[in-house]
Amino acid sequence: MAGRTRTTKKLAQRIDLDYFKTLQGIPRWRRILSVVFTLLGLGWLGWHGLRGSPTPYNAGPIARQHALIGHKCAACHVSSAGFQRTVTDNACVACHDGPIHHAEQTFSPACSECHVEHKGVMRVASTSDRACAQCHADLAAKDKNTPPRFVAEISNFDRNHPEFAPLRSGQRDPGTIKFNHQVHLKKELRAPQGTVQLKCADCHRPPGFEEAWPFGELEITPATFSLPSRAYMSPVNYREHCSACHTLQFDRRFRESVPHKEPRVVYDFVVKKLTEYIVAHPDQIHTVDEPDKRLPTRPVPPIPRNAEEWVAQRLADAQLLLWRKACKECHALSYPQGPDSLPVVAKAAITTRWLPHASFDHEAHQLLACASCHARAATSKETSDILIPGIQVCRECHRSGGNSAEARCFECHTYHDWSKEKHVNAGYTVPQLVE
Ligand code: HEC
Ligand code: HEC
Ligand code: HEC
Ligand code: HEC
Ligand code: HEC
Ligand code: HEC
Ligand code: HEC
Ligand code: HEC
Ligand code: HEC
Ligand code: HEC
Repeated sequence: MAGRTRTTKKLAQRIDLDYFKTLQGIPRWRRILSVVFTLLGLGWLGWHGLRGSPTPYNAGPIARQHALIGHKCAACHVSSAGFQRTVTDNACVACHDGPIHHAEQTFSPACSECHVEHKGVMRVASTSDRACAQCHADLAAKDKNTPPRFVAEISNFDRNHPEFAPLRSGQRDPGTIKFNHQVHLKKELRAPQGTVQLKCADCHRPPGFEEAWPFGELEITPATFSLPSRAYMSPVNYREHCSACHTLQFDRRFRESVPHKEPRVVYDFVVKKLTEYIVAHPDQIHTVDEPDKRLPTRPVPPIPRNAEEWVAQRLADAQLLLWRKACKECHALSYPQGPDSLPVVAKAAITTRWLPHASFDHEAHQLLACASCHARAATSKETSDILIPGIQVCRECHRSGGNSAEARCFECHTYHDWSKEKHVNAGYTVPQLVE
């Protein structure tokens, strides 16, 4: 039996030579769908065009702070340069100022170079490090002859940010109040009622807390309120933090302390108290006190002949006690020459902002123990020690990469010099914004 013969010719005859003219299967659907989607797209554009809606040209969602003006493209895209309407600085400053950074800057980058838009609901102020590094990686000041006052090569917090200035230069704490942290933080420190273990918060709190101070009285000083927020600690003061343990008694006849004021006020107070006392107790005029053990030995004075002499003798003792002992325990005093002259108390000079070129916020870090940043406090014996943390402590958490706190420049620095801000009123009406 002859089998079926399959010649190449026969096979060729089975092929439809026009197969490419009619589409089948996937290619067919591809063509149908391209036409349908193009038409749908054009229809969508046309429909938005007819409604005057800008959605088709939108480059991405606007930042949260600009959500209200997100549909008002022309508020930002003002200048029509060619086909595109570009964003100008003038458009931004019509609604709010963005004051300059520094008088010394050699040029001013455009607002939109740093404040990127259409990237979603991020903060507009989350600017890239590149925006700062374009100058700070190789800083130059306007005046070519004066070198920049700041470290000139900074482009990244992890890599080449300098140590903070007060720690870099071996600076000392300029404060003049004598204070030994180690002594005061020891266990069983003597206090008016028994012994205590002091905590940092017994002396250091941000402004605005009205809880009682355990070792003093609440004092509401103007200085306390000039601090803008709870970011920084209020400076220590005698009344709130020291007065209960370090009283200022001047004479054993009086339980009262002298006012914690200028020596002239203290002097007048002591004179007044002694004079009143001797008027009330004339029988004591012709007596001499036992010398106070706390004082350097002095010659025993003659018996006073009248009230004035009695006051003068007690006053001399009180002054010895105050100027050579009580006040001097904490203060640097100088003693000018002259018959009536009183000692001069050096300015306390307690620093309230250690790092003025950056911002810091204690409240944002309140989950941490004070000593985790201020490790040196517990062992510091001298006021001149600097107790603020160095950059390595910050880098433990503020570093680039996942699961870490923000490490871009804007987290700790401001760019704009807000003291130069100009007030702006754009004058929109409510319907204009919420149509
Ligand atoms: C708050 C101000 C603001 C508003 C409102 C705004 N934009 Fe933008 N837009 C910008 C900024 C800033 C850029 C970046 C411009 C640049 O690089 O010069 C930009 C860029 C664009 C781009 C890309 C242009 C390019 O050069 O790459 C398009 C497209 C665009 N916007 C469309 C729109 C549309 C459409 C709307 C309204 C729905 C709108 N924008 C609303 C600020 C805004
Ligand atoms: C129509 C008015 C308007 C225009 C135009 C405008 N803004 Fe704003 N902007 C606002 C309002 C309102 C806020 C929110 C209130 C505020 O923070 O002052 C805001 C907030 C901001 C913030 C603060 C965001 C934050 O993280 O707190 C930045 C930065 C900003 N705008 C930059 C720009 C820039 C750059 C432009 C120009 C591209 C611009 N704005 C244009 C009205 C405007
Ligand atoms: C156009 C250039 C330029 C850009 C961009 C720039 N800076 Fe500066 N910056 C300067 C100059 C100039 C100085 C002052 C140098 C001097 O006084 O010697 C300065 C000073 C500083 C200082 C120290 C003085 C101060 O005012 O506290 C800090 C901090 C600072 N810049 C942070 C930043 C950050 C953060 C950015 C980015 C958001 C930035 N800079 C962007 C030019 C620039
Ligand atoms: C009895 C009050 C008292 C207690 C308690 C106390 N301090 Fe102080 N602290 C002071 C005084 C006074 C000063 C200012 C004099 C000085 O600089 O030493 C000061 C200054 C500081 C400073 C800034 C000065 C610098 O040189 O950096 C830091 C930081 C500080 N203390 C941290 C602490 C920490 C942390 C604790 C707890 C472990 C603590 N202090 C407990 C009284 C106290
Ligand atoms: C236990 C420590 C302590 C003693 C003792 C003490 N002071 Fe003070 N004194 C302080 C502290 C802390 C400050 C800074 C904050 C304040 O004003 O309370 C200060 C500030 C002052 C100031 C203001 C200094 C300035 O910066 O202008 C004067 C004046 C002053 N004391 C006078 C006295 C006199 C006078 C005596 C003695 C009768 C005295 N003090 C005793 C701790 C003390
Ligand atoms: C809880 C009580 C208490 C408080 C509050 C307190 N002190 Fe003292 N202070 C002491 C005692 C007790 C001593 C003596 C410690 C010793 O020698 O062991 C002392 C000693 C001192 C000395 C001498 C330190 C030395 O080197 O031996 C100075 C200076 C001093 N205190 C300043 C202050 C100042 C300033 C404040 C307020 C900011 C303050 N103290 C708050 C209890 C206190
Ligand atoms: C995350 C680290 C960190 C922690 C935690 C921290 N501090 Fe500070 N502290 C700082 C830095 C940074 C400064 C310098 C801020 C400045 O003055 O510019 C500072 C400054 C201070 C000062 C000087 C005054 C001032 O505000 O500048 C005192 C006092 C102080 N801290 C006490 C404390 C006490 C008390 C605690 C615990 C409740 C604490 N700190 C927790 C980092 C820290
Ligand atoms: C985690 C906080 C933090 C970050 C992030 C940060 N800085 Fe700083 N920076 C500081 C502190 C704190 C100082 C010390 C300020 C002072 O001494 O007054 C400082 C100081 C500076 C100074 C002054 C340097 C000098 O000569 O003392 C400049 C300039 C500066 N930073 C720029 C930058 C730039 C640019 C970036 C981003 C690449 C950046 N910083 C990121 C905290 C930060
Ligand atoms: C234990 C980790 C940790 C350490 C150490 C640390 N920070 Fe932070 N810091 C944080 C966290 C968490 C936040 C809040 C998250 C945020 O706002 O991004 C924050 C927020 C901040 C902020 C913004 C505060 C605000 O206004 O919201 C500044 C500025 C800052 N840190 C500076 C510093 C400086 C300077 C140091 C070193 C002295 C430091 N931090 C050390 C974890 C840390
Ligand atoms: C070199 C980068 C840079 C340039 C250029 C820049 N900014 Fe900023 N801007 C920042 C940074 C960083 C912040 C956040 C820290 C601060 O307040 O300075 C900010 C904050 C702002 C804020 C928000 C303040 C707030 O409420 O938190 C406004 C509004 C603003 N800029 C407007 C402008 C305008 C308008 C321009 C142009 C004239 C401009 N910026 C140019 C970096 C820049």
